[in-house]
Amino acid sequence: MEQQGSVEDAVLSLTDVAFAYPGEGEVLHGVDFELGAGERVAIVGESGSGKSTLLHLAAGLEAADRGEVHLAGEALAGLDEAARTRLRRARVGIVFQSFHLIPTLTVLENVMLPLELATKAGAAERRERAARQLAAVGLADKEARYPEALSGGEQQRVAIARALVHEPALILADEPTGNLDSRTGETVFALLLEQVRATGCSLLLVTHSHELARRLDRVLTMRDGILQAVDSAEAASA
Ligand SMILES: Nc1ncnc2c1ncn2[C@@H]1O[C@H](COP(=O)(O)OP(=O)(O)OP(=O)(O)O)[C@@H](O)[C@H]1O
Ligand SMILES: [Mg+2]
Repeated sequence: MEQQGSVEDAVLSLTDVAFAYPGEGEVLHGVDFELGAGERVAIVGESGSGKSTLLHLAAGLEAADRGEVHLAGEALAGLDEAARTRLRRARVGIVFQSFHLIPTLTVLENVMLPLELATKAGAAERRERAARQLAAVGLADKEARYPEALSGGEQQRVAIARALVHEPALILADEPTGNLDSRTGETVFALLLEQVRATGCSLLLVTHSHELARRLDRVLTMRDGILQAVDSAEAASA
């Protein structure tokens, strides 16, 4: 039987993590969090409470000042920046609020990029896998376009394809529907969930929408740099 809850088994774990930006006050004050394989968790919380900072630490883009971050079984503190980058490229897919597609690459080339950075796949295989992932998000007919010739919702669907194409263990999504109207946001959110489910990867998603958050397995609230289960947060404010 699989062991539950050990740091080694979790896709992501943070233990008593504190973090301050250089020259600033502490933003995260002792975050404990564990994300299991295939688990989908939402984080809500006020602007400035530290949600994006938490995702940066999870991705190894920033290093914790105190505590431990394990990503895919590896302690990030034990890795130098190059090794952290390699681990992130191999194991993580990131979806940003503002899409972050590369404007000088076509849609297909954007989706091929993670395969180039993180796998040994040759050009033909990269092209084939990227095309398959684009078809899965309903954009097979837009492969040759440049991002500027797509709608916002379509750009985010390309970003989702790019995040998933190398079969990462973890998707980090920072307000992925924040720049979309509510109907497009709903479509994109449903697509993201469907694709995460289809690939079996874990999802950590930041959103301002409690309605979207409730559709994941678990909802946590970030409050002044402390992460709480929604139940205990509600109990605390009751
Ligand atoms: N690069 C930075 N340098 C210094 N301070 C920063 C930096 N990025 C964020 N901060 C500060 O850290 C705190 C947490 O920011 P963070 O971006 O994590 O909040 P957030 O919860 O994602 O907010 P939002 O919902 O507005 O995106 C804020 O006080 C912010 O001003
Ligand atoms: Mg943020």
